[in-house]
Amino acid sequence: MKKIRSLSCIDNETSIYMFKRLILLIVTLCSIGCSTTNEKASVRATVTTEGNLELASPDGKNVVQFILENGKPMYKVSRSGHDILEPSQMGFIFKGENRSLSKLELVAADTSYTDETWEQVWGEKQDIRNHFNQLSIDLKETNSPNRNLKIEFRAFNDGIAFRYLYPQQGETDMVIMDELTEFNLAGDGQAWWIGAYQPDRYEYLYKKSAVSSLDTVHTPLTIETDRGLYLSIHEARLVDFASMTLVQTEGSRLKADLVPWADGDRVKTDGSFTSPWRTLQIAEKPGDLITSYLILNLNDANVLSDVSWIQPHKYLGIWWGMHIGKFSFWESPIHGASTKNAFEYIDYCAQLGIDRLLIEGWNKGWTPDWYKNKMHTFSFTESTEDFDLKAVTDYAKQKGVKIIGYHETGSNIINYRKQIDAGMALYQSSGIHDIKIGQVGSRLNMEEWHHGQFGVNYYREVLKKAAEYKLAVNFHEPIKDTGERRTYPNMMAREGARGQEYNAWSEGNPPSHTATIPFTRLLSGPMDYTPGIFDVGISQGYEGRDVHSTVAKELSLYVVLYSPIQMLADLPENYVSKPAFKFLQDVPVDWQNSKVLNAAIGEYVTIVRKDRHSNDWYLGSLTNEEPRTFEIALSFLDQDKQYQAQIYADAEGITWKTNAHKVAISQKTVSSADTLQLKLAPGGGTAIRFAAQ
Ligand code: NOJ
Repeated sequence: MKKIRSLSCIDNETSIYMFKRLILLIVTLCSIGCSTTNEKASVRATVTTEGNLELASPDGKNVVQFILENGKPMYKVSRSGHDILEPSQMGFIFKGENRSLSKLELVAADTSYTDETWEQVWGEKQDIRNHFNQLSIDLKETNSPNRNLKIEFRAFNDGIAFRYLYPQQGETDMVIMDELTEFNLAGDGQAWWIGAYQPDRYEYLYKKSAVSSLDTVHTPLTIETDRGLYLSIHEARLVDFASMTLVQTEGSRLKADLVPWADGDRVKTDGSFTSPWRTLQIAEKPGDLITSYLILNLNDANVLSDVSWIQPHKYLGIWWGMHIGKFSFWESPIHGASTKNAFEYIDYCAQLGIDRLLIEGWNKGWTPDWYKNKMHTFSFTESTEDFDLKAVTDYAKQKGVKIIGYHETGSNIINYRKQIDAGMALYQSSGIHDIKIGQVGSRLNMEEWHHGQFGVNYYREVLKKAAEYKLAVNFHEPIKDTGERRTYPNMMAREGARGQEYNAWSEGNPPSHTATIPFTRLLSGPMDYTPGIFDVGISQGYEGRDVHSTVAKELSLYVVLYSPIQMLADLPENYVSKPAFKFLQDVPVDWQNSKVLNAAIGEYVTIVRKDRHSNDWYLGSLTNEEPRTFEIALSFLDQDKQYQAQIYADAEGITWKTNAHKVAISQKTVSSADTLQLKLAPGGGTAIRFAAQ
């Protein structure tokens, strides 16, 4: 990286002159090579006639401009010459004196170019290219207290990101009261959103409406602009900061709204901070948002040296039974997590060829009102009278099955922190390497938002602690994902949206839900949706409940909804002797590559993925309430191979309401030159394994 220093910009004319000199220097230095790779540098940083610094993506299409208007930092973004974001404010408001950074001047700027490829420990794609141009800007207040602020911009071919770095400059307990960052959309757009500050966290159905009509919403926020581009506004590398939600202030102007602590502070710092990356993914097609790895690229590299214990997997669970009312979480004549049931489920695992079993509710502290907002006190080490952890783990071992541990905190973090070491140590000594951790409740400790800085730090602390005990984590009631899995690959999956359980005990998720979350929730990272219900009418469940899906669509979810851990969520007896179960046995959870073949947000999507450990490809295609016919060109298959396509389709004439359990299974020999016709029933789907011959 080359560094260019300029002293100060006194007035506007001088500042334009100095910007120009600065850029001349940047360009000169880049021409002798400011690349961080062997490839020729392609940093495109120029100065506009207005004197603004401009950085383009390596392909030149995405351009971010940094503007200092009367000492106030702003930025704007365009793609292929068309504005996406109009000038948008940047900066912060602090607590106490000197609330805002006064007039800023440019002190220095650096550029750099990165083109590297890194390998995921596990993932939807094995090798990820991280390719961007960077512009780092050093700013200083012209008046006392003359504070410094650095802003880093990155321009990728799939979007733009920036972050603030505030160095330590004498204060010790500085508090951020507001972040001024805006995303001032050029023109209006349609957004798919869920509201922020809701009691059930992220567990809502996405709504679609004009950006100009939004209130305060969570990220990732997906937008189709009036010009037909697809955007996702989110953040990456959320560490020791409050989550960013977005509030519509006027027109289609969105502003960062940092989730506060109970005392109203937004971010408590020791006098320095590095904000998360503020991200804007930009795509021509909705499917390109799914295959954008910008969020992961903005996270730090893996810090865990031994990752052998982190294993993507499929699992059964003593779980659905509780949600449909067949079992109870708490001790009762129908207690789910009894030794007897655990042995039976281990036998099912062995019979069905699934080597992981989740057991929820084996510990003391569960009551019939466990889900109500109060400080429940769970034990993380003591078993209920009818459960013997040692006997269960020993029996599982004999049968080649691994138990997945479970901690429900009930959001009582005080209680959990007291026991976390003992609870995790117990699992470690029992040979357990996977843990699901739940945080049911509207507020952590009955007072803090899950996604405020308190929660962000709590989830990171638990993740690190789990790594110490060699436990791979599945968070339920989590904080949103911002790409932690790159740095801590024991961060496997999380809930963070309405999952399958809503179908068990509420009005449920409509068929359009699973056609929406690949473009919204799933953009942030893997989701433990818990698919795979074969008894779609939930015959052993509550009256009138239904999973609103055909069985073939349930199969397609294993390809469409990426997760390195996938539950086979139904009661295991519902899988026995079902021909369609073969797909669930075959489908991998770790992929070499992923492609989106067609997509319309909330309507349909077809995704293909190549197995990381074989030459097989898998396809998942699903639709909302509408039936669809797709002609799928198989050109994604390896050119030199023949495949047996094992097709699991909706049977003729069914819908998600009628005969939804009927799956038409067929085989066909195909190659990359062929085309397949898929027929999806209303609320249906298709799943295909392309087994390489
Ligand atoms: C809600 C979780 O999403 C679910 O998976 C779990 O079974 C219950 N909480 C109990 O902790």
